[in-house]
Amino acid sequence: MKARLFAANWKMHQAPADAAAFLRTFLDQYTRQQDRRVLFFPPAVSLHVVVDATRERSDIGAGIQNLHWEDKGAFTGETSAALARGAGARYALVGHSERRQLFGETDAQTGLKMAAAVRAGLTPVLCVGETLSEREAGETLGVVARQLRAGLAGLEPSAVASAIVAYEPVWAIGTGRTATPADAAEVHQAIAAVIRALIGERGGAVPILYGGSVNRSNVEALLATDGVDGVLVGGASLDAEQWLAIVRAG
Ligand code: PGA
Repeated sequence: MKARLFAANWKMHQAPADAAAFLRTFLDQYTRQQDRRVLFFPPAVSLHVVVDATRERSDIGAGIQNLHWEDKGAFTGETSAALARGAGARYALVGHSERRQLFGETDAQTGLKMAAAVRAGLTPVLCVGETLSEREAGETLGVVARQLRAGLAGLEPSAVASAIVAYEPVWAIGTGRTATPADAAEVHQAIAAVIRALIGERGGAVPILYGGSVNRSNVEALLATDGVDGVLVGGASLDAEQWLAIVRAG
């Protein structure tokens, strides 16, 4: 059985002092569970706090929320995968819908970022998902397949096999609406089929997370859904007590 993944996307929250306080509470109460891993995606300025606090915990990893596709250079304000790796990150979110929607990230750029993450030794978490209008137009599976193929295009099969995918319907992010287990199951199954088409049966090992308004009340049902290997959580991951309840679920 795949280990369950519980990923916290802190977005633009948790300054170093807040991250440190959160982790004191969390690490005091959360002991290692064989069947699960916990990942934190703090803002870049707080990455070192998460890395330092979790150094002894092989069941907990830290990552960055975004990266530039070049390894280094004159790109003021950007962080490369190699810099993040040097700061202790092991994971990277790539193609989060807020990057796509608010910052104009294209499928092609997402592909370059995936390749850069792998080059630097980070495990990428490729985020895919449709907007409300795309869902209403019946385009969900087509959009998700397009985002997946573009994101994975520059990767060797072995890198695809060790990547992580997150299905996050855009209309469910930060809105309090979640996909029904049936909707999530349909898309997770379609994602798994695209990955298998790319790299064959070993694609079955790629964890597929669900994200979008996950909280302590709905996490059990989502984790019980066919094809859901874990969750990617924004708002509900900012409170240590709620996050403890979520990572203990399932
Ligand atoms: P949310 O965000 O849990 O606040 O909806 C999830 C995400 O954007 O990764």
